[in-house]
Amino acid sequence: MARNKITIAGSGNVGAETAHIAAGKKLGDIVLLDIVEGLAQGKALDIAEASPIKLSSPGIVGTCDWEQTADSDIVIITSGLPRKPGMSRDDLLAKNTQIVKDVSAKAAKHSPEAIIIVVCNPLDAMVYVAASITGFDSDKVMGMAGVLDSGRFSYFIASELGVSVDDVKCVLLGGHGDDMVPLPRYTSISGIPVTELLTEEKIARLIERTRKGGIEVVNLLGCSAYYAPAAGAVKMAEAILGDTKAVMSCCAYCDSEYGVGGHFVGVPVVLGRNGVKKVIELELKESERKQFEKSLAHVKQLTAKVDKFL
Ligand code: LAC
Repeated sequence: MARNKITIAGSGNVGAETAHIAAGKKLGDIVLLDIVEGLAQGKALDIAEASPIKLSSPGIVGTCDWEQTADSDIVIITSGLPRKPGMSRDDLLAKNTQIVKDVSAKAAKHSPEAIIIVVCNPLDAMVYVAASITGFDSDKVMGMAGVLDSGRFSYFIASELGVSVDDVKCVLLGGHGDDMVPLPRYTSISGIPVTELLTEEKIARLIERTRKGGIEVVNLLGCSAYYAPAAGAVKMAEAILGDTKAVMSCCAYCDSEYGVGGHFVGVPVVLGRNGVKKVIELELKESERKQFEKSLAHVKQLTAKVDKFL
């Protein structure tokens, strides 16, 4: 059987860490790409040289040449500017739209059958850009944010309760912004609803920390997070390449689902070899629906701004 081929566009912190984790998991042949001469090549060589020590995969090349990405199964788009302190994700819109437009066009040209996972911000709008430019079926283009935000929420819950992170499962809806919607009603610790174990006030505090999770790291580090975002992208790639039908929250195309009406937004999905196999629709309470609609309205606003650059 042919080996999987994974292109990672952008070799900054997120791209390089994505390549590093994917190599560790022996996910397939990895092409790490950047426009800056030497950056992808240097990082790929370093990762390859670690492979005998870590018993990971040496199947990685770094390049500036899209030809080398030909016929990838997955293209993970991390290219774009990251946030600096004082910036919102939305501040990146104009510059990153241009970058994602260019990268998406090249990805579609060289890997017409690929699944696209977008990681750069503002996430939901950048997924829309990638979908518009590639023209790929909507189930083949998606964004990584829900996995990251779920990771943050799960970590905060596990730390608060002093339990294993493995046992915490949660669902998030909405855009990757300060109005994202973690759903405590669908969050459990080995099947025990979190609402049985933590007070409403504690849960509200952890939700707030999750919503501000990105900027908390930016303020400490001076740039965007990358270990957790990269882990999220690889988790999605694993589910797709392995056709595992894993369920996770991702930025996916919704039409009738949740009454979204044709936008990319965070929802729980089933991932398989062809991308998003299914959007899982949950019954929402009035208060949850209101929060989701607020978040969706923000996503729609950003998408409308992006349309001017397409
Ligand atoms: C974050 C950025 C990557 O949430 O959006 O850390």
